Amino acid sequence: MSFIARTHNCGEIRLAQKGAVVTLNGWIHRVRDLGGLWFADVRDRTGLVQVFIEPEKFPNRADLRNECVVSITGTVAERDEKNKNPDAPTGDIEIIVSSYEILSASKPLPFPVSDEQQMESVSEDLRIKHRYIDLRRATMYKRLAVRAAAHRRIREYLHTQKFLEVETPIITKSTPEGARDYLVPYRQTPGLWYALPQSPQQYKQMLMVAGVERYFQIARCFRDESSRADRQPEFSQLDLEMSFISQEDILQLNEGMVKYVVNGLIEEFGLDKEPVGDFTRMTYVEAMDKYGCDKPDIRFGLELFDVSEIVKGSEFGVFNNTLEFGGRIRGVRYPGGAKLSRKEVGVLEDFAREFGAKGMASLAVEAEGEGVDIGNGLKVRSSIAKFFSTEQLAAVVGEAQAEAGDLLCFIADTYETGNNVLYRLRLEIGDRCQLRDPRKLAYMWVLDFPLMEWDADGQRWSSMHHPFTMPKVEELDILASKPGDVKAQAYDMVCNGSEAAGGSIRINRPDVQAQIFGLLGIDEATQQERFGHILEAFSYGAPPHGGIAWGMDRLIMLLTDTENIREVIAFPKTGPGHDPLMNAPSTVDAQQWAELGLRLG
Ligand code: AMO
Ligand code: AMP
Repeated sequence: MSFIARTHNCGEIRLAQKGAVVTLNGWIHRVRDLGGLWFADVRDRTGLVQVFIEPEKFPNRADLRNECVVSITGTVAERDEKNKNPDAPTGDIEIIVSSYEILSASKPLPFPVSDEQQMESVSEDLRIKHRYIDLRRATMYKRLAVRAAAHRRIREYLHTQKFLEVETPIITKSTPEGARDYLVPYRQTPGLWYALPQSPQQYKQMLMVAGVERYFQIARCFRDESSRADRQPEFSQLDLEMSFISQEDILQLNEGMVKYVVNGLIEEFGLDKEPVGDFTRMTYVEAMDKYGCDKPDIRFGLELFDVSEIVKGSEFGVFNNTLEFGGRIRGVRYPGGAKLSRKEVGVLEDFAREFGAKGMASLAVEAEGEGVDIGNGLKVRSSIAKFFSTEQLAAVVGEAQAEAGDLLCFIADTYETGNNVLYRLRLEIGDRCQLRDPRKLAYMWVLDFPLMEWDADGQRWSSMHHPFTMPKVEELDILASKPGDVKAQAYDMVCNGSEAAGGSIRINRPDVQAQIFGLLGIDEATQQERFGHILEAFSYGAPPHGGIAWGMDRLIMLLTDTENIREVIAFPKTGPGHDPLMNAPSTVDAQQWAELGLRLG
C-alpha cells in the first residue's frame, strides 16, 4: 500500500483513546484558520473528527483544501473544557497531527457540501450532476444506509418464512402495468424489440407454475412515465408471490414483515417514529365514502360526511340542481376554521376549484354571534344559511359532528368529483391543523377493490389492478352481466396517505382468464400474441397463488421523512427521465444506428 492505512474511523474516536497515536483516512471536511491556528474536520463515512495542525510544523498546510483525500497521523488529545462540543460524538477530543499525506487533491467544489444549510438552496440538477459529491453528506449516506438495512431485514424475514430469492430477466417482453414500455431494439433482426419489465408479474406467476411456491425479489421496474414526487421511471419493488395460500395469509405475512422491517429500522437508526401497530382494514367503498380516495391518511379523523338527504327540499339552487342530476352534497369539517376571514375562505374555495370543484359552500359553527341559533348553544353563520330551515341546519351540523369554532365545507357534485375535491381538501385541512403527525406510521389495508372500471374515453372496461387478478369467487356469476359490480381479490397496503404496496390473488383458471380478457376487449389473437406464454403455462397445472409488491423507494421516503423520491435513490432521474450525471439519454454513433437497422424520421 502506498499510503498509511487507517487505524481508526473518524467518527468513532473517543476520550478512551486519549494519548493513542491514530491514523485516519478520509476527506478534509472543512478547514478553519483561526488567526494562525489551523483546525480541520476530517470525515469518513462514520463521521467527523477535529484535527489540529501546528503552523510552524506544516508550512505547506494550505494544500489541505476542502474535500481533498488525506491520510493523517496524530495523537488523540482531550480538548480544553471550554472547547468541548457535547453535540458532536467526537466533541471531547481532537487529533494533534504529526504527519499527513494528501492522497488526492480536490478542485474547488460546485457546491458547499459541508454546509447543510447552504445545500438547501443548491439546485437539484447540479446536485445530481455531481451526485458523487452530494452523497458525501451524512444525510444522504444515512438514506442509503436505511435502504440497505431495509433490504437486509426483508431478506432475514423472508428467509425465516422459507422464501426463495429468484432473479427474473430485465431484457424481456412487455409486462404491462398500465404505463408505457421502455423498448430495446434487437440487433439480430431489425424490427424486433425487447421491452424492459414494468414489474416481474408474469415471471413470478410462472415461477408458481414451476413449483417454487414462495418467491421474492428486490426487483427493478421500468415504466416510461414522467417523474413525480413519488414516481421514478426506474424504481424498486419488493416483489413476492406465494402458492396454496389465501388472501388472509398474504395480508398476515406482510403485516408481520412490515413490523419486523420497519420497527427494526426505527430501533437500529433511532428514527423519530412510533412503532407500527396492528393494521387497520377498510373496504374500498368505505375508503371512498369516508376519505374520498383509496389511499387515505388515517393519522387523523375528519371523515367526510354526506348531507344529501338532509338538504333535500331546501331553497338553495346549487344543491337542488346537483341532487336533480343524481349528484351528492358532501363535506368536510375544518376544526377552528370558523375564524377564517371571507378572503381566507375564498383561498380554500380556489383550492377546491383547482381539483375540479365548481364552487365551495361553507358554514361557520360558533358559540356566540349573529348566526342562526340551532340549539345546544350553537349558532350557524353563512351566506347560504337563509336557504335552509333551522332543523336542516341543526341536522347538517349534527351529521358533521361539528363543534363551536368549526367551518363546514360543502362540495355539491358527482360522487367522483366530490371524492377528488374532498380528498384534497381534507388533507389540506389536516396539514393546516397539523394533524398529520410525522411520528406516526398509520398502516392499513384497503380491500375489496372493484375488479374493473369503466373507461369513458375508450368506451371499454379496464382492469383496476391487472388482468390476472381473481374476482371474488362468489361474484363470478354476475361477471358477464354486471362486470362493474364484481369485486376483486385485490388489496393495497397504504401508509400515511400513500400507496405502499399492491397485490392480488391471481386467476389460475383458464376459463375465468378467458372471460376477463373478453370483457377487457382483448381478442383471441391479441391474447395469444401478448400473453400466449402465460396462458399456456396455466394449462399445465397452475396452483392457486397470489402476491404483492411493495414500493421500496416509497418505504424509504416514509422512514427518512423525505418528500421527494429522488432523495432516496443513489442516482435518480430528473424531470422527463433525464440523468444529468451520465448525461443520458444521449446520441449513439452512426454505426450503431445502422447495426440496429434504425433511421430517424
Ligand atoms: P403496482 O403497479 O401497484 O403493482 O406497483 C406496486 C408498488 O410499486 C410502487 N410503484 C412505484 N414506485 C415508484 N415509482 C413508480 N413509478 C411506481 N409505480 C409503482 C407503489 C406500488 O404500490 N405486479 C404488481 C404487484 C402484484 O400484483 O403483485 C404491481 O406492479 O408503491
Ligand atoms: P353561486 O350561486 O354560483 O353564486 O354560488 C353560491 C355559493 O355556492 C358560493 O359560495 C359558491 O362557491 C357555492 N357553490 C357554487 N357551486 C357549488 C358547488 N358545486 N358545490 C358547493 N358549493 C358551490
